[in-house]
Amino acid sequence: MVDRAHPLEEAIRLEAVYKAFVPRGRSARPLLALDDVSFAARPGEFISLVGPSGCGKSTVLNLLAGLTRPSAGRVVHHGRPVTGVNTEVGYITQDDNLLPWRSMLRNVEYGLELRRVPKDERRRRAREFIELVGLAGFENHYPHELSGGMRKRAGIVRTLAYDSDVVLMDEPFGPLDAQTRVILQDELLKLWELRRPTVLFVTHDLVEAIALSDRIITFTCRPGRIKREYEVGLRRPRDVFHIHDLPRFRELYDALWDDIRMEIAAT
Ligand SMILES: Nc1ncnc2c1ncn2[C@@H]1O[C@H](COP(=O)(O)OP(=O)(O)OP(=O)(O)O)[C@@H](O)[C@H]1O
Ligand SMILES: [Mg+2]
Repeated sequence: MVDRAHPLEEAIRLEAVYKAFVPRGRSARPLLALDDVSFAARPGEFISLVGPSGCGKSTVLNLLAGLTRPSAGRVVHHGRPVTGVNTEVGYITQDDNLLPWRSMLRNVEYGLELRRVPKDERRRRAREFIELVGLAGFENHYPHELSGGMRKRAGIVRTLAYDSDVVLMDEPFGPLDAQTRVILQDELLKLWELRRPTVLFVTHDLVEAIALSDRIITFTCRPGRIKREYEVGLRRPRDVFHIHDLPRFRELYDALWDDIRMEIAAT
């Protein structure tokens, strides 16, 4: 559990957050997306957010990235409220967000450029990460010349090379086939182990949530409220290829699926 007595030892915190969107049109009623959501993450913790479509998972990440404001409550990063765009966090959004006019290498360097890292250093770090995920040789390819899996890898290393202490990932493996997905999960864990940033990871895949996370937070259907929190409690480093064999896996999977099934039935 998070130690509430030491809030500065928290990387991020949402405190009684409500988020309502006001649709266009005068007669439209506000839509409540998040309803009294509170949680905190320890530095280095890997947390997955799981819940039905439209329950506000992406909204939670957007709040932390400062792309949208809470209607009530507080969003805090390292003890400071997030009041504008939060360039301190790394963010892999739900879309494939490589810049089509830049080569893969220059895409990976992009975050470092924003941080004004000198060119030589930038190039060295980008190449190091590219090597780590087996993309060496494709540095000069443009995104449309890469496979879906390669584009996802490039997006992930770009965000991790940025070296933020908090990384937000919104269904980063969404459209990939099952095999590529597990391989990328394994790679992601290896990269994460190098610096251990705090990760907030959104996924619809319960197996993925268990394989990757220290803690899993389930949400109700909209308006999103926290339904339950689970400590995963599986030892690291993890073997994502055989995670299903563990008794703890089964137990968690069944509990998570019960939560989600109930919420989907309620929509
Ligand atoms: N900018 C916006 N303007 C108006 N409504 C919005 C906006 N962003 C999100 N919403 C609404 O808020 C609710 C939560 O959206 P959000 O994208 O956070 O859900 P989600 O849990 O990420 O869903 P999914 O699993 O489908 O990605 C939805 O009903 C959505 O339509
Ligand atoms: Mg979403």
